[in-house]
Amino acid sequence: MTGAISEVPGFQATLDADGRIEPRDAMPAGYRKTLIRQIAQHAHSEIIGMQPEGNWISRAPSLRRKAILMAKVQDEAGHGLYLYAAAETLGVDRADLLDLLHTGRQKYSSIFNYPTLTWADIGAIGWLVDGAAIVNQVPLCRCSYGPYARAMVRVCKEESFHQRQGFEILYTLCNGTEAQKAMAQDALDRWWWPSLMMFGPPDADSPNTAQSMAWGIKRHSNDELRQRFVDMTVPQADILGLRIPDDGLRNEGDHYVFTEPDFTELYEVVKGNGPCNKERLAHRVKAHEDGAWVREAAAAYAEKQAQKQSDKKSDEQQGSAA
Ligand code: 3HC
Repeated sequence: MTGAISEVPGFQATLDADGRIEPRDAMPAGYRKTLIRQIAQHAHSEIIGMQPEGNWISRAPSLRRKAILMAKVQDEAGHGLYLYAAAETLGVDRADLLDLLHTGRQKYSSIFNYPTLTWADIGAIGWLVDGAAIVNQVPLCRCSYGPYARAMVRVCKEESFHQRQGFEILYTLCNGTEAQKAMAQDALDRWWWPSLMMFGPPDADSPNTAQSMAWGIKRHSNDELRQRFVDMTVPQADILGLRIPDDGLRNEGDHYVFTEPDFTELYEVVKGNGPCNKERLAHRVKAHEDGAWVREAAAAYAEKQAQKQSDKKSDEQQGSAA
């Protein structure tokens, strides 16, 4: 699987020394291809992920909650731009990546294809989805590809705020009225299994994990991170007084035994058959089309500025030649 590495001088030595591969370093074509795939889909996930929570900005129960949610959604946009910039260091163009997303040839995380039915869902997304993101993304801060690892440092700091605000929303509901606590439990019941699926298929069914780990892109397997997420999250549910909707869940001292999610659901959602896939992609394509004028204006301005600079330079050269 890693045969191509031998043709690239210095690559394996850098990995073996736990060094970082930088954009100008020689790298196997497969390494570059895997990074473009993963970083692009990560970026797509951040951008599409703005939709489920964005739906609730106008319906937040207080000005404080609205301000926090707006900040979070804006952070996700920033994460997407950060990650598109990291992907571009590999020689791809973000316009092409967006076209691959819009035409269904690149993916985004399955988790964002579920509806946000109540305010408690916004708490569950922060607590569970951003919690899962932290578990998945902290190891990426040690990814062998420099720009991706560095982008993850800031992203993970902001994800911690995202997870805390989500937990606080649920903590407030769980200490409110019976109806509010029931709303929090309903959200946990609907978001628990899709959150476990975020970590990907089981290792035995993952075509990419072994190679990604050999290349130091992934530091842990899908199943290892899923287990880490469960072990971190179950005690938090206890603090909330909420029940994890898994009859097979039990404490084994240093870890929890839990029921595997239904991966056929994950594969169906990834194929485009989730509850909100069509709505999410249509909204994204429309937002892109509606924003064309901004991109055109920015490009025209940049071209004009470049022309001004070149005119100034040629005037100076003529002046000095005279
Ligand atoms: N949703 C959509 N596709 C998924 C998926 C999921 N939950 N899990 C796996 N897949 C896809 C993979 O992309 C791969 O398809 P591809 O080869 O066509 O790209 C296929 O299913 C097989 O899965 P593998 O496990 O073999 O693939 P990977 O090695 O790429 O592992 C991953 C999947 C764990 C998601 C990995 O890509 C990863 O860690 N990505 C970086 C983190 C990321 O993208 N997180 C997504 C959420 S972003 C987020 O949480 C934002 C936060 O602000 C809330």
